[in-house]
Amino acid sequence: MNIIFHKESKQFHLSNDKISYILAVTPSGELGNMYFGKKIHDRNDMSYMLVRGGMPVVAVDADTESYAMELNRQEYPSFGTTDFGTQAFEVEQANGSRVTSFVYKSHAIFNGKKGLAGLPATYAAEDEAMTLEVELEDAVAEMTLVLSYTIFKDYAAVARHATFKNKGDSRVNLTRALSCCLDLPDQNYEWMQFSGGWARERIPDVKKLSTGTVAIESRRGASSANQNPFIIIKRPNTDEFSGEAIGLSFVYSGNFIALAEGNNYDRLRLLMGIHPDRFEWPLDRGQTFETPEVVIAMSSSGLNSLSQTYHKLYNNNLVRGKWKNRPRPILNNNWEATFMDFTEESILKIARKAKEAGVELFVLDDGWFGERNDDTAGLGDWVENPAKLPEGIAGLARKIKALGLDFGFWIEPEMVNPNSNLYRRHPDWVLAVPGRKSSLGRHQLVLDFSRQEVVDAIFDMLYKVIKDAPVSYIKWDMNRVLTEVYSLGSSADYQGTVYHRHIMGVYSLYEKLIKAFPDILFESCSSGGNRFDAGMLYYAPQAWCSDNTDAIDRVRIQYGSSYGYPIVSIGSHVSAVPNQQTGRSVSIRTRGNVAYFGTFGYELDLNEISDAEFETVKKQVEFMKANRELIQFGTFYRLRSPFESDQSAWMVVSEDRKKAIAGFYCMRSRVNTLPGFLKLAGLNADLVYTMEGREFYGDELMNSGCPLALFSGPEFSVSEDFASFVTVIEAK
Ligand code: GLA
Repeated sequence: MNIIFHKESKQFHLSNDKISYILAVTPSGELGNMYFGKKIHDRNDMSYMLVRGGMPVVAVDADTESYAMELNRQEYPSFGTTDFGTQAFEVEQANGSRVTSFVYKSHAIFNGKKGLAGLPATYAAEDEAMTLEVELEDAVAEMTLVLSYTIFKDYAAVARHATFKNKGDSRVNLTRALSCCLDLPDQNYEWMQFSGGWARERIPDVKKLSTGTVAIESRRGASSANQNPFIIIKRPNTDEFSGEAIGLSFVYSGNFIALAEGNNYDRLRLLMGIHPDRFEWPLDRGQTFETPEVVIAMSSSGLNSLSQTYHKLYNNNLVRGKWKNRPRPILNNNWEATFMDFTEESILKIARKAKEAGVELFVLDDGWFGERNDDTAGLGDWVENPAKLPEGIAGLARKIKALGLDFGFWIEPEMVNPNSNLYRRHPDWVLAVPGRKSSLGRHQLVLDFSRQEVVDAIFDMLYKVIKDAPVSYIKWDMNRVLTEVYSLGSSADYQGTVYHRHIMGVYSLYEKLIKAFPDILFESCSSGGNRFDAGMLYYAPQAWCSDNTDAIDRVRIQYGSSYGYPIVSIGSHVSAVPNQQTGRSVSIRTRGNVAYFGTFGYELDLNEISDAEFETVKKQVEFMKANRELIQFGTFYRLRSPFESDQSAWMVVSEDRKKAIAGFYCMRSRVNTLPGFLKLAGLNADLVYTMEGREFYGDELMNSGCPLALFSGPEFSVSEDFASFVTVIEAK
């Protein structure tokens, strides 16, 4: 890895052994992009890439009379001079002008990476990454802008963000401050987004790019299940194993926009950052605004490789603390078993059976606090309900511990029911516009986390519950979107800061709890996967992937999630049948075979299943204990897409390529067909592997494929709905 500055040409070349990112000070003084892609040789000067003059009806820079931003690739463009594309930022100045021109002033290159104040971000030791900070200046606006670029040694990835500073006496208003812009020289790409809604999260959706704009966004206060803050652009012929692809992943959990815009001169612009709607950030003299981070990754060998870059980078350089790269406990959660209708004894009964199955952690879900007997009351009152838990969380946790299980529980700290003591005491602590009615979601309102005293009060309540109890896990839920976003804690001028300060408040509560209880494993959740993003992974290394626990739907949801997020971050449990969301009945075997590829656990009362199923559960737990390290942290390959076929398959391979585990799923039966073959990936071509008691060369399994007929038997047939198998492939 290296960052070279060519003084004469004022060009910067960031590279590692996989990629090159080349930027330069352009003839008008701003920063422009020369190249981003597979690693290329360094040169002193790449200004032959610049377009100078020659096109009719363009506006050109007055000093050079030949350079038009519109014809060239920009690093962080504004609108108002010679670029007519979508801008990365906008500053409203005291005289009402929004025209800016930030030109090169200085730069710094250093080893490692700085943190972002109060924001989630990738981190890196001095030998893991290098950073370039380019300082730009607008003398008229009296502001500076620092663009930060970190290149990682081992990954085809660059992390970017921007920092604005007001150096003048007049107040300026930032009305748009996206995190990055990546301009590319042609538009022959497809755009891939991950869309859906509650219980159908992160479904890939692909469209062709050309001139004009394609965009996704969230203005719901959370990153959302509707559009995940992660996009890929890929060449039309790119597949899982070959071809170019670029990903943009937003390390942020609030409102966002991601867009691709083709102009009429072949330029393709990618932008990602905080949604500019309802965003306005006043800066007085000396004040700064730092955008969140975007991680740009690149692959020239297909989508699996792009995903592997995100998986490894996020596991090694985003997730922190005790649970970083640590296999996750197998848990039993009581939600789908009891909902809020439980007593200490009924919970202990479920836990005892879980222990018998070999489960390691019991998680008590919603309903343990305040008057929380249904979802109309109690949120905000983080005090145990003695009718359900006579000795509180601490008492139950001790009893669960005595059974030999770890203990965890559910919270939803950002919310309040109007029917709660907290709301009755502090009706002004919610986001609400004075004089207007407040929309409800699941009978609840959103606490105003832009106010420090609100965050502190919730922390104090939770601290009291946790401090005396042996708690090793917390499921942190967030079950409604934000509306009527207005803070009584802010003056009129600062209402445009509230969305962002609210999510910063959420991050600060996480940080306080992590500091107080560093060993706790946090799982984020938002009605399932409504806030499954890279920002959350910095605090909670895993996320409940979806409230849809149907194994067949889960193949799709987990497959879609794997494009941008590590397998170990995907919360996946076996639940009861018929499934609550879909009514579908799938065997315990297939439910387990799907749930293995994630955190793994049970979301049911194991007392309620048959003896034969219970025997299967015991074997599943044993299998996962023996293999979770490989499944959760191995190199993951998507093999067959459930979006293109009625079958799906994926696999993980160990670092030394001596062991692999593959999962195969029949989403629907295929009558009167031959079973066919499944081509595996990532193995060592020359090694002999055993699979199902037979021997194969790695190259056989990868090129001629493994015969699916091998797996046919009483438990699996490709001509059966919802049949599946998981197989271990081991080098001799
Ligand atoms: C959300 C979560 C569920 C469960 C309930 C509890 O819907 O996604 O897993 O925790 O809340 O109310």
